[in-house]
Amino acid sequence: MTKLHTIYATSALLVGGIFLGNTVVADTPAPTPIPASGSQCLSCHGEDGRPALADVPIIAGQQPIYLANALRHYKNGQRTGGQALVMQEMVKDLTDKDIEELAKWFGEQK
Ligand code: HEC
Repeated sequence: MTKLHTIYATSALLVGGIFLGNTVVADTPAPTPIPASGSQCLSCHGEDGRPALADVPIIAGQQPIYLANALRHYKNGQRTGGQALVMQEMVKDLTDKDIEELAKWFGEQK
């Protein structure tokens, strides 16, 4: 390789490196979509975790263990009163895996 070729090769590497570096910095990670089993949750609990409805609890950023317990208690009928009937209807077809995934997802929303 001639000296000129070496310079070209080095410049190409540098430019490539700069572009790659910029790409990494410029890309903000896309938000993780809610698991499919929770597609109906956001209409009440809000797309960004802030419900538009005044009587729906904010669950974004809540502790996942607490959320999973709440969902299980709606499902097995232990949690009643208030508007529990609304949630009992929502969770009746969720599996334990769905509950774990949804609790984790809502807990991660800020
Ligand atoms: C029709 C509106 C509606 C939909 C849809 C809905 N929720 Fe709810 N959610 C509520 C209301 C109202 C409450 C308060 C219930 C009560 O009084 O116990 C609630 C309560 C909760 C709670 C308990 C919060 C706490 O602080 O104890 C969790 C967890 C929850 N919802 C998760 C979900 C998930 C997950 C889904 C989707 C599978 C969902 N909700 C779908 C309206 C809704």
